[in-house]
Order: sequence, then C-alpha cells, then structure tokens
Amino acid sequence: MCGIFGYLNYLVERDRRFILDTLTNGLSRLEYRGYDSAGLAADGDSAEETYIFKQMGKVAALKKLVNEQQVDFEKTFISHCGMAHTRWATHGQPSQLNSHPHRSDPNNEFTIVHNGIITNYKEIKTLLSKKGISFETDTDTECVAKLTKYVYETTKDQNLTFTALVKQVAKELEGSFAFIFKSVHFPNEVVATRRGSPLLVGVKTAKKLKVDFVDVEFGSAADNVTPTPAEASSTGFLSAEDGHPQLHRSQSRAFLSEDGMPQPIEFFLASDAAAIVEHTKRVLYLEDDDIAHIASGELHIHRLRRDEGASTTRSIQTLEIELAEIMKGSFDHFMQKEIYEQPESVVNTMRGRVNFEKHQVTLGGLRGYLQIMRRARRIVFIACGTSYHSCLATRGIFEELTEIPAQIELASDFLDRRTPIFRDDVCVFVSQSGETADTILAMRYCLERGALCVGITNTVGSSISRESHCGVHINAGPEIGVASTKAYTSQYIALVMMALQLSEDRLSMTERRNAIIDGLYRLPQQIKQVLNQDSNLQQLASVTLSKEKSLLLMGRGYQNATCLEGALKIKEISYMHSEGILAGELKHGPLALVDENMPVILIMTKDSLYPKVQSALQQVTARKGQPIIVCNDDDEDLLKNYKTISVPQNVDCLQGLVNIVPLQLLSYHLAVIQGVDVDFPRNLAKSVTVE
Ligand code: UD1
Ligand code: M6R
Repeated sequence: MCGIFGYLNYLVERDRRFILDTLTNGLSRLEYRGYDSAGLAADGDSAEETYIFKQMGKVAALKKLVNEQQVDFEKTFISHCGMAHTRWATHGQPSQLNSHPHRSDPNNEFTIVHNGIITNYKEIKTLLSKKGISFETDTDTECVAKLTKYVYETTKDQNLTFTALVKQVAKELEGSFAFIFKSVHFPNEVVATRRGSPLLVGVKTAKKLKVDFVDVEFGSAADNVTPTPAEASSTGFLSAEDGHPQLHRSQSRAFLSEDGMPQPIEFFLASDAAAIVEHTKRVLYLEDDDIAHIASGELHIHRLRRDEGASTTRSIQTLEIELAEIMKGSFDHFMQKEIYEQPESVVNTMRGRVNFEKHQVTLGGLRGYLQIMRRARRIVFIACGTSYHSCLATRGIFEELTEIPAQIELASDFLDRRTPIFRDDVCVFVSQSGETADTILAMRYCLERGALCVGITNTVGSSISRESHCGVHINAGPEIGVASTKAYTSQYIALVMMALQLSEDRLSMTERRNAIIDGLYRLPQQIKQVLNQDSNLQQLASVTLSKEKSLLLMGRGYQNATCLEGALKIKEISYMHSEGILAGELKHGPLALVDENMPVILIMTKDSLYPKVQSALQQVTARKGQPIIVCNDDDEDLLKNYKTISVPQNVDCLQGLVNIVPLQLLSYHLAVIQGVDVDFPRNLAKSVTVE
C-alpha cells in the first residue's frame, strides 16, 4: 500500500514554497499507508522542466531535502500541477532510486506516481527492453512511465490528447493501481486513473459549483486528438498564450462560472480523504477504469472502455467527517480497519502468484531455491507471537503436501536451547515487521551454521528481508495496530502457497492441491461473510463475555492455532485472561477449570477431526459448561442447540483463515468495552526490537 497525492492550482496564484509544502503536507496525512520513502514532482522554472525530489525514510526527510534545494521558492505560478507519493515497498528495496515519482527518461518527459501492483510489469519490461529501452529502478511503476513515453513517440503522428495516451497505456496494464500522470508535453494537465486502488479528487473554489456532479464523457474518436491552434480557435478552444493557461471546450458543467468562463480553482487528488479534508470537503470518488483529466480548471471524467449501462455522472459529495476520523476511514481504530481490510489484503498476498484457472502457484522469491528446499533434511519455522501461530496453523498442510519434516520454534526458546542446526536444514523466519530482535538473532544463528534462510515478511527492506537468502513478501500493506490481524491471515496464506509450490512436482497431490487453490479463491468472499456478522459479535462481547474474568478457547488439528491466536488477541487487547487449549489435551488437565461459570469457546468447524471435537463438547457440557461454538453455517444440529458463531466452510487447512476473523472481532469489541487503547495496548510495542 502506498499513498499518492496531487495538487493543482488554476487561476489561483501560488508560490513554489506553498506548492511544495502542500504536497509534502498531503503526504504526511497519507504516511500511515507507507513510510519507507517519499517523493514529489513539480514544475521547474519553465514548462519543459519537471523537478523530482525523492528521499528514503519518512515524509519529514523529504521535507528536509526539499527545503535544502537551491531553487527559487518565491517563484509564483498561476497554474501548476504537482504530485507526490509515500511508499511502502513491494517492488524493489526502499531506496531513493526506487521511490516515486518515476520518470520515463532523464529529461522527466513523463512522471508518474502509483499505488498498487502491476502484475504484468515483467512482460512490459521485456517488450520495452527489446526496443532498446533501459531501466534505472527495480519497480513495476517505472515500466509504466517508460511505456507512456513509448506510446507517445510511436503515435506522435496521431496527435493524441493526454487522456487518449493514458487510455492506451492503461489498457496494457494488469493488476491494481491508482496513478497520476504528469508530462512536459502537456503542461498544466494531469491525468489520473484507477483500478482496484482508491483515488479521489477534492475541489476547492471560492464560488459555489454550478452543479454537484461531473458528467462522464464517453467520447468519440475526435476527442482523442489534440487540436492544432487554428482548429482550436475555430472549435471554441482558445490557444495558449505566453504564461496564460489554455481554455478547452467543456462538458464539465460543474466548473464554469455564471458567465460560462472558467473560475479560479484548486484540485487535490489523493488515495484517501485524510489528505484532502483540510483543504476542502467537496470530493468526488473515481470509479474503476475512470480516466480523470484535469486541465484549465476543469475536471473531465472519461472511461477506459465504452461500457454499456455504466453510470453517466460522478457526484461531488460533501464530507461530513473530521480529519482524525478519516485517517481510519469509517473505523474507530486501526485494528478494526485492518481486520476489515482482510478481504483485500489476502487478495494482495496472492496477486500475481496464484493462477486459479491453471491451479498454479509461483512465488518468484523462492523460484531459484525450490530444489534446495525439496532436498532439505527438515524445515524449521521460527517466529514469535502471532507470526509463530501462522507457522503452527500451516504445519499440517506443509507436512502433508511436501512430506518434509517440519519443526516449529518460538525464536526466544530456539535461541535459549541453542538448537542444533545443520547445513542441509532450511530455516524459515516469519515476521510481520521483519525487525523482531529474537527472530533476527535466530536467523543470524542459522546463517552462521550454513542453513538456507528463508524470510516471510510484510516489510520490504526490513532486516529479515535483506539478510535472508530468499523469501516471500506477504504484501498485506502496513499494519499499524499493535495487535497483528491482517498480517496473520497473509502470513498463513504465504506459507500455504509455499507448501503448494514446493509440492507441485508431486502428482499424487494434484487433487488436494487443486482443492486448496479453489479454497483460496473463495476466501475473500468468505471473510466478507464473517465481517457481516460483526454486530452479532459485538452483542456477544457486550452481553455474554464482557463481565467475565477468563475465557478458554478449545479446538484441535488445524484449529489449535486458531485457539492460540484468538486467545493471544483477547489477552493482548482486552487484558482478559484467555487460554487456547488443544481439545485433545482437555482431560489431561484443563478440564478441571470447566464448570457452569467458565466461559468456553469451542471451534467445531467440519473436518476429519469433527467426531473427536464432539467428544470434547460432551466433556464440557457434562461439567455444565455452556460453550459458544464456532461452527459451519450449515451445521443445523449445533446451530439449533447451542449459542453459536457461524462461518462458511472452506478446505480444512484454510478453515483457520475464516475462523480467526470472528475471534479478532470479538477481542476488538471486548477491548473497546473495557475502554482500552486498542491500537496501543499497555506494555506492548508494535515492533519488538529488543530481546
Ligand atoms: C517481485 C516483486 C513484486 C512483483 C513480482 C512480479 C519486490 C520486492 N517484489 O515479487 O512486487 O509483483 O516480483 O513478478 O520487488 N526476499 C528475501 N527475504 C524475504 C522476502 C523476500 O530474500 O524475507 C527476496 C525474494 O527471494 C525475492 C525478493 O526478495 O528475491 C522479492 O520477494 P517477493 O516480493 O516476495 O518476490 P515476488 O513475489 O517475485
Ligand atoms: O513483527 P513480528 O511478526 O515479528 O512480531 C512478532 C510478535 O511480536 C507479534 O506477532 C505480536 O505477537 C503481536 N503483537 C500479536 O498481536
């Protein structure tokens, strides 16, 4: 996840200092979306010149860099387009070079900022390389900048408009994106487009807008061509005079003043309203495949393709909310937001890696290491906290698919025991932050002993990502709440994908692998279904559980990890004592705790162990326990006779991904009821960088 921001002034005089400050301040509001590097592009001293400033680290570092520039900060612009970006690396390490904006060439003819992932960037890169075009960064974004220049040059005789040019480029792209394009060939214009990643436009004028919507222009072929100055004046366009902005014929009724002339106006483009609301509350949300063209004080919305039945206007809405609220969207806390992001974050983990039609998984980062991994004497998974639970949750399917012995270790204990590690071991380090001290130390210990070290992390450029031999970035986007939620589901999927890829040569497993890949496909929808039950879970938390002192979670097989992770969430966030118990261990001790007063959650989703969990249910009810049962939504018997939380059914080894979601929500509500600072629980830090 990254944050993009654009600022355009038209007939509103602004000096360079104001413009640059507006851009960097906009980024500060988006910093929660990514903070490993930042950059911006603005006009130089002439329309043929674009300045690009980029810096590693937080927006503050970019601000410092900008302030140190030897440029005329007092220079004023009556009309100007600038754009900026704060990055959370997915393609290529965080570095100044890999930061956005990216450019088409050393003269900055086309500059772009991008949020999202272009999954076919390798194909585009190969194609452009064959044409002799070279690349300076490791990013997917750069190839879009280069592609734009390439299309511009190869269609020069057609005199394409900026919009038509971006349309041609966008048609070539796969994946998810929000883009802003700027070009020295189209001064004082920007084009923005999106597919799958958010983008909105804020509008600020002194006078009221004539109407509160913008017409969508479906356009004819003639609209794709930039008129010559002579054509322009005969068709109602005014040609550009020195220093004066060009006027275009418009269907954008909203932006004209009473006399039909353009009025002074400022536009703000952003990934999130948080960066806009301090300037204006009037915003328009772009839809997928909208191509927004801003020039001469007007916003025009075009469509990538002619789509029958598409809506013909975009309304300009008035935001009622304040800044603090917007940062978290409609959510009260980052933890809640991150729980709700899971239908999207799990897709991002799989994007470009799982081919659902061909039932294939390709983790690019492991490709060169598969043979070593398959020959390993054993695989040792090492992690802490929630990350450890993701290893536990996937151990069974790993062993089943690969038949390689799998060992799971808590990093601190692994180090305490000075566990024997050998050259033919493969050690996998799972960490959201990639900076957890115990996990890093365990990795260095294994590196010293010659084992292959594989990282599974959410943070490109983190210590684990850099120091491991190879690995997988889970691409869940930044996780801000201390309680790990979306990182858990994404780590879990990354580990399942790893098992699927390692076992691709085992024909006997084909059917099982295909069923799992089909299950992964259903997952986002199923998580949404669970999220829809949030109000019931809130009820359950407040009416049934909030006064309790303790809560036991029981399950077995794949659900043992779900219980441990659910219990960790509950104790970490709500400070209620909670314990995850392997149901098979009940009568070896924990059953002594069970009576009519001990709250119990029992996980009984259907898999081969269902009959055994039924016996655990009997053990609990025989002691007058009144368990709340997490069961499948077609399990009539349980639904009728018990207090239940129902969830859709998935393949056994993926069911934990669905089952954890109600427990995350429950822990969240318990914490809110306790009045606890949900995102910053006492005594805990997001990244545990000390032993
Ligand atoms: C890479 C791109 C991804 C793009 C894909 C397209 C990066 C960071 N990722 O993803 O954005 O969609 O190509 O083919 O450029 N690694 C480690 N340790 C770790 C994690 C990763 O060494 O803990 C290494 C991997 O082995 C790999 C590189 O970092 O060499 C990138 O990993 P990852 O992002 O997972 O690779 P891809 O999925 O191929
Ligand atoms: O960044 P990591 O995944 O390495 O962090 C490991 C644990 O500190 C972390 O998962 C912790 O348990 C979470 N706060 C739990 O929600």
